[in-house]
Amino acid sequence: MNALPADTAEANALLRTVVLVGMMGAGKSTVGRRLAARLNVPFVDADTEIETAAGMTIPDIFERHGESEFRAGERRVIARLLEGPPKVLATGGGAYMDETTRAAIREHGVSVWLRADLEVLARRTARRNNRPLLAGGDPRGALERLLVVRNPVYALADLAVDSDDGPHESVVETIIGELGQRGVLRS
Ligand code: S3P
Repeated sequence: MNALPADTAEANALLRTVVLVGMMGAGKSTVGRRLAARLNVPFVDADTEIETAAGMTIPDIFERHGESEFRAGERRVIARLLEGPPKVLATGGGAYMDETTRAAIREHGVSVWLRADLEVLARRTARRNNRPLLAGGDPRGALERLLVVRNPVYALADLAVDSDDGPHESVVETIIGELGQRGVLRS
C-alpha cells in the first residue's frame, strides 16, 4: 500500500471532539467551520441541531417554552453530539455555563474558549437580531452583564484563543497548533 501524503486527514487525525465555547459573536460557527474543513472532520452547530430537533427557531423556543426548556434541550443535544465520532462542535454561548454539559465536554472532548472583548462582540452581534438574550433595548449592556458572569466559567476551558478582528485563519492555525501540542491530533 502506498504511504499516505503527509497532509491527508489520516496523517492528521483528530482524536477528540473539539468543542468551541464562548460568547455570542465570538466567531464559534465561522471558526468552527474552517477548523473542521482543515481537519477534514464534520462541523456541527449545536444551535442548528436544537432548532432541527425542536422544529422551530431559537427565538420561537424561548418565546413559546422559555429559556429553561431551551437549556434542557441544549443539554440533551450536546450530550448526544459528544457521543459520536470526533468532530468540531460549536456550542451556543450559554451551553458551557451548565455544569452537566461541562462535565460531558471534559469527558468526551477538548474545549476551546474563543475569547473576544465587548467591542468586538457588540459589533458582531449587532448584525443579526436572532438572539433572545440581546433582544431588549440595551444589547451592549446585556452583553456586558453576561461577560462578567460567564468569562470566569469560559476560563475553565482547556484552551483559550483570542478571536478579535484578525483573520479567522490565524485563529484556526493557533487552535491547530495547540491541539497538536496537547496530543489531540495524531500526526
Ligand atoms: C445564547 C447564545 C446563542 C443561542 C441562544 C442563547 C447564550 O448562541 O444559543 O440565543 O445564552 O449566549 P450563539 O452563541 O451561537 O449566538
